[in-house]
Amino acid sequence: MKTIFSGIQPSGTLTIGNYLGAIQQFVEFQEDHDCYFCIVDEHAITVPQDRLKLRQNIRSLAALYLAAGINSDKSTLFIQSEVPAHTQLGWMLQSISYIGELERMTQFKDKSAGKETVSSSLLTYPPLMAADILLYKTDIVPVGDDQKQHLELTRNLAQRFNNKFNDIFTIPEVHIPKVGARIMSLQEPTSKMSKSDENEKSFISMLDEPKKIEKKIKSAITDSEGIVKFDKENKPGVSNLMTIYASCSGKSVEAIEAAYAGKGYGEFKQDVANAIVDVLKPIQERYNELINSEALDEILDKGAEKASLTANKSLAKAKKAMGLGRVKKKR
Ligand code: TYM
Repeated sequence: MKTIFSGIQPSGTLTIGNYLGAIQQFVEFQEDHDCYFCIVDEHAITVPQDRLKLRQNIRSLAALYLAAGINSDKSTLFIQSEVPAHTQLGWMLQSISYIGELERMTQFKDKSAGKETVSSSLLTYPPLMAADILLYKTDIVPVGDDQKQHLELTRNLAQRFNNKFNDIFTIPEVHIPKVGARIMSLQEPTSKMSKSDENEKSFISMLDEPKKIEKKIKSAITDSEGIVKFDKENKPGVSNLMTIYASCSGKSVEAIEAAYAGKGYGEFKQDVANAIVDVLKPIQERYNELINSEALDEILDKGAEKASLTANKSLAKAKKAMGLGRVKKKR
């Protein structure tokens, strides 16, 4: 059975972009794969966080994973900082990473642009991400389009380690969904929808109420043509709404174009909003049951325990390969 690993940062309530680009695929994978899903809180602290909010976001993300369909009997769900092997291997992989290749990461460039001070962990974020993946002998990493470059670096680091020391790491493949891999901002449809965007109107949170969703979709930027047609280049706003609609409803982009021919944007936007509400409503109901439950803690405790077993074995192998620790004298 192939192994899947993916992670999400607890840096705000998840957006419909995180759901369509990532979680929706996770739920499908867990049926016939050995899956690990992680709340990567150590990645979140590479930029300043409010400590109380961060702790709430970690719990909230765990509840959302489960509410969206991650089944703890089938998948291992855990918090990164509860499995110390991640930062340990992360440090080791930093030692074989080059500053130049880390500075070339677009996420680093975007997040550090215009900042007076930048933490060194923002630069060394990708070797930690590589550690997350490599600890579990991961075959496939399902992610949205924006993580492609990090995955390429992970593969390079794994290969570099294997060549330099010992052939112990599996080289992971990236898996990006055909539709929904890059959901765009509702207000600026040429940039990615992001949970850390300051303009709340630019994203749909997975916990937004139906009224709010409707309002945000109605005020989403489109164009003055009034034609529902998929054309990313010239009609980024409309194309983005069509992608969201297609991913939420399972309808094809062609079918959506045909259904709204000659109808303008009013009815189309209403149907997009309804499709999102239909997907999110049951998730929100399950979320409300889970968020304050002890069952959630039990799942996370069990997850950390199970993840540690695998992670510690890989870490021990990697340490030995690199020459860390000592030669033990047997009595
Ligand atoms: P993060 O927390 O930014 O996003 C989590 C997942 O959601 C996807 N995603 C999107 N997909 C489509 N449209 C969007 N607008 C959109 N925004 C986000 C992301 O591609 C991602 O799959 N570095 C990672 C977290 C991470 C990780 C890992 C992922 C840490 N270690 C190991 C995989 C494996 C990140 O910042 O994701």
